[in-house]
Amino acid sequence: MVSRISAGDDLPYAQLAFLKDGAVATTDTVEVFAGFRSVVIGVPGAFTPVCTEQHVPDFVRNAPKLRQAGFQKLVCIAPNDPFVIDSWRKHVDPAGTVAFYADGNLDFTRRLGLERLQRDLFLGLRSERYMLVLDGLRVRHVRVEPTITLYSCVRSSDALDTEYL
Ligand code: BEZ
Repeated sequence: MVSRISAGDDLPYAQLAFLKDGAVATTDTVEVFAGFRSVVIGVPGAFTPVCTEQHVPDFVRNAPKLRQAGFQKLVCIAPNDPFVIDSWRKHVDPAGTVAFYADGNLDFTRRLGLERLQRDLFLGLRSERYMLVLDGLRVRHVRVEPTITLYSCVRSSDALDTEYL
């Protein structure tokens, strides 16, 4: 069992995927995050109501303030395949404000210690709902919702708290 990521830890290495010209392309955590200040939101699933109607819209809305505060990378990671993520991305963020990556193999989620088995809702193995504030590959701050369907304590605006700036 992997212990849950904490402030002060190094971000684990993992590959992440996205669609490029309709084909699956990969990147990794080093390529995406090294050398940048970032806010990452992790969501349990594309097209689920809270993620689609609250969590990602809040992140997109706060993007200008987050960029102004010096966060160069605003990233959403979800435990779905790259085809689903690409379709969801166009739906929730048509302007392309945020970068979306697929963690369909759950490698990133597992290494963060944030896997969650959600059999009752027939989601299978997913991720917790979380937010990370990163300084390059160093984790500055972690928040995880106690309940997967809640959106109460991972608001991206909390990354603007002066202690993380
Ligand atoms: C939601 O984002 O609405 C959601 C997430 C996980 C399970 C069910 C719903």
